Amino acid sequence: VSYRVGYFVGSLSSTSINRTLSRALIRLAPTDLTLTEIRIDNLPLYSPDFDADYPPEARALKDAIAASDAVLFVTPEYNRSIPGALKNAIDWASRPWGQNSFDHLPAAVIGASIGQIGTAVAQQSLRAVLSFCNARQMTAPEAYVYFQPGRFTDDGEVTDESTARFLGDFMNEFRDHIERVLTVLPRS
Ligand code: FNR
Repeated sequence: VSYRVGYFVGSLSSTSINRTLSRALIRLAPTDLTLTEIRIDNLPLYSPDFDADYPPEARALKDAIAASDAVLFVTPEYNRSIPGALKNAIDWASRPWGQNSFDHLPAAVIGASIGQIGTAVAQQSLRAVLSFCNARQMTAPEAYVYFQPGRFTDDGEVTDESTARFLGDFMNEFRDHIERVLTVLPRS
């Protein structure tokens, strides 16, 4: 068996450390996880006015989630919460009412910061949102990445051994979490 993981990078920055982290996670993930990015940078701002007729970018977002067995959020902390672009994408995916893309979907949260709190506060905020969206979150282990340039190359090679082990363990645990959830709640 292999599992399809759609991942979101919460940053729109061309030099995003969270994108670097996502590359590291792809490298360190167990071989039975296939990671595919779900883009958020092309979405207009959500309004209920769109509910009757979603634009193509928002349909693509919902289709990509529907084609995933699980989702992974790799996000920075902005002002002690998640970036607006990521919240906007979640709002699109959660609607129209009754067609919430996250319902019962296995999910995990991780993030990198240049500060030592390592996105902990943003992740709590994101977890509250995902709870309401009824995603099946992995609650442990948590992963708050204090991004020190020496630990990662730009293409996501992790040069620090204990960081590599920690991130690899995180992805292995996520794999087990997906398997557990899908045993009870198979995806169609
Ligand atoms: C930040 N940053 C930040 N860091 C943090 O640890 N807690 C925070 O609340 C914030 N707030 C914040 C707001 C805004 C608007 C910006 C632009 C930045 C710093 C942040 O960790 C740093 O810019 C990271 O590089 C952002 O991640 P990406 O975009 O590089 O992936």
